[in-house]
Amino acid sequence: MIRGNADWQRGNEKAKMFMIVPVKALRLIGLILSLLCPQIGWTQDSHKEIEQTAQLLTTFLNVGRVVIERNQLLINDPGKGDKGFTPEVFERLVLDEFFHQTDIDLKHPPSSLPSLAKELLATLLLASKEVVRDAQFVINQRGIGYKNFVPATFGSQAARKFSKRSKVTIKQTALEPRNLQNAPDGYEEMVLKRLASQPSSTTPSVEWLDGGQLLRAVVPIYYSEDCLVCHGNPKGILDMSGYPREGAQVGELAGAISIQIPSDHR
Ligand code: HEC
Repeated sequence: MIRGNADWQRGNEKAKMFMIVPVKALRLIGLILSLLCPQIGWTQDSHKEIEQTAQLLTTFLNVGRVVIERNQLLINDPGKGDKGFTPEVFERLVLDEFFHQTDIDLKHPPSSLPSLAKELLATLLLASKEVVRDAQFVINQRGIGYKNFVPATFGSQAARKFSKRSKVTIKQTALEPRNLQNAPDGYEEMVLKRLASQPSSTTPSVEWLDGGQLLRAVVPIYYSEDCLVCHGNPKGILDMSGYPREGAQVGELAGAISIQIPSDHR
């Protein structure tokens, strides 16, 4: 039997009446629990904190890449031995640029910064400094120009070191990656294909999967003029890093920074 609209309405009203009491009670219990123990992972606020943390972590990794890019001529200077580009100098530059981009001073983190973000940003800073420390020998070599220490190599290494130390996974990826360790998983491939077919935009893709258990964010990266010396034309001809050029154009999607945070991250 097909019920009419009025029946549906009435049915819904009844259902609502039954629901109101338990929903209200649950909300109240949730509120009390979240006040008593803010670390509990399944409150709404916590989802928001996790999203903010994801955004700050990807910004931080990107800031590290920017700092390497700005010091590329120094790093590649064959005439100079000791470059003075130490992990401490790198840290200062990264914290300054991060402050410039976010207004957050990580030397004196504001109380509004979620504790999860504070903790994970500190871990990512440490991992990033270790990558710069491990590269000191290469960076300080005299007589060699290109040293294969570029934003992407830095980013891949820092992301991998960080991901080994937390339940959070961060990586650089692309549809046709140079480094196979950066190959996209099924989800990343789907999002990258969607982004590649859309005009360039800074809006990241942010989704909660597995019934709200897993946050996945994919932040697109686009080619600028500076990238084309390696990723541009002539397509297929090896660049200075020894990879075939992609034949990319300015504004094309280069890849993304992808991050996954499970809601039971602690
Ligand atoms: C000096 C050459 C060079 C320049 C300039 C360069 N890249 Fe790359 N790029 C590389 C190398 C080498 C890799 C592989 C890194 C690795 O081993 O993880 C790479 C990897 C990447 C990746 C990760 C996915 C992959 O292919 O493994 C992205 C995304 C990327 N580059 C984007 C850019 C963008 C955007 C720029 C400009 C802002 C840029 N690159 C400038 C050499 C370069």
